[in-house]
Amino acid sequence: MLEEFSFIAFLGAGLAVRFQCLLRECLGSDMEGWTAGAIKKEWKASRITLSVLPNKVPRFEDSLNNLTVSLGREAVFTCVVNDLGSFRVAWLRVDTQTILTIATHVITKNHRIAVNHSDRRVWFLHIHDVRQSDRGWYMCQLNTDPMKSQTAYLDVVVPPDILDYPTSSDQVAREGANVSLRCAAHGVPTPTVVWRKEAGDLLPTANFSDAQNSSVSGAVLHLVKVSRLHMGAYLCIASNGVPPSVSKRVMLVVHFPPIMTIQNQLVGAKESDTVYLDCHSEAFPRSINYWTINDQIISQTDKRFEIMAVERGYEVDMKLKIKKVGRNTFGTYSCISKNSLGDTDGTIKLYSLSGKFEEMQYNDVDFEETPDVSELEALKRSEGVRNNVHVLLILALLVIS
Ligand SMILES: *[C@@H]1O[C@H](CO)[C@@H](O)[C@H](O)[C@H]1NC(C)=O
Ligand SMILES: *[C@@H]1O[C@H](CO)[C@@H](O)[C@H](O)[C@H]1NC(C)=O
Ligand SMILES: *[C@@H]1O[C@H](CO)[C@@H](O)[C@H](O)[C@H]1NC(C)=O
Ligand SMILES: *[C@@H]1O[C@H](CO)[C@@H](O)[C@H](O)[C@H]1NC(C)=O
Ligand SMILES: *[C@@H]1O[C@H](CO)[C@@H](O)[C@H](O)[C@H]1NC(C)=O
Repeated sequence: MLEEFSFIAFLGAGLAVRFQCLLRECLGSDMEGWTAGAIKKEWKASRITLSVLPNKVPRFEDSLNNLTVSLGREAVFTCVVNDLGSFRVAWLRVDTQTILTIATHVITKNHRIAVNHSDRRVWFLHIHDVRQSDRGWYMCQLNTDPMKSQTAYLDVVVPPDILDYPTSSDQVAREGANVSLRCAAHGVPTPTVVWRKEAGDLLPTANFSDAQNSSVSGAVLHLVKVSRLHMGAYLCIASNGVPPSVSKRVMLVVHFPPIMTIQNQLVGAKESDTVYLDCHSEAFPRSINYWTINDQIISQTDKRFEIMAVERGYEVDMKLKIKKVGRNTFGTYSCISKNSLGDTDGTIKLYSLSGKFEEMQYNDVDFEETPDVSELEALKRSEGVRNNVHVLLILALLVIS
């Protein structure tokens, strides 16, 4: 060794250029990381050649990659060092100036840190169960003189979470009230929040964010003057690019007093016919529904009738089957709907198509003659007139006159 170094010294400053050239010839342009630490004299075909023995200085192959890791997962930095020789690789935490590992030894007390390598060339720093506090700069360092190092950033991302307390729970509102549904989500990066209705589109009173009218972004969903159509489940969905996205379901219940709609308020029937009377009620909370005949409540056990109801959400189709029309079934029927907010009723008159006019029980109308009611019915059908007491009464008067 000594001899070799002396040789360099002997060449002196004046020969430096020539020496460099020789090195270039030997090594091509890849001079970085080489030293003339060992130069061997050789006698060859009566001329001196210099050959450089690579007493190499370690060098990094690539730059250290930044990492983005989800909370709780494992982060692995990879530092590739060529020609490490007898030098050592240390991993450091830059922000805190902490030495984490030197060679294969873990220095830090943090038991989530581990180090391994493959052929002393590829060095891995393992950080298990990554926490938010692990976010920051890390360094792969070689104990050369001067030292060589590379740094990279560990970003810790956190999947979105919806906070229970500040997020709306199920809501009950009166029809016409304004309702705001809130959704508080956190995560890293900060999640975006969108609201959707579980079934169907949002209604136009909300601010729409996309072309489909199906969602609105923002932590708060403002619903102005809610109607029964707003009733349903709303989903607040938080996402920040870190899987999984999360959602919370908030029920909106809208209370309103019953309303009743009746298609046919006048129904004609012949004796022994089977007749159905229909009422449609909407109410929430759900209403209690029942029928009366001539102001007497029809009981479930009344043999003359069968009481039926089909419920769909806040809607109820009430149906009364009159099994066999007879003298004691003509008259004025009412369908009645009651809930805590109010009550309503609708009236249907059942009159005889075959019998005497007196049986019709039109208490409030004073006819002078007996009209041909079957003719009336035919007229009503042919004209497709939506049945209604007033229309029919007007027709009746026309026929009479
Ligand atoms: C690593 O992350 C830092 C900070 O986020 C950035 O400035 C740098 O350019 C990144 N380096 C690479 C190689 O992506
Ligand atoms: C070191 O860790 C890397 C990354 O987890 C792994 O692929 C490799 O098998 C490990 N090597 C050894 C020798 O344990
Ligand atoms: C509901 O909101 C609308 C529009 O913001 C407002 O004009 C109205 O007064 C509010 N109604 C109630 C009951 O707060
Ligand atoms: C969204 O809603 C608005 C207002 O109700 C309506 O005019 C528009 O046609 C809707 N767009 C789509 C794509 O449904
Ligand atoms: C709709 O969006 C506009 C602008 O973003 C905002 O000023 C307004 O308050 C929103 N209205 C409702 C009902 O959310």
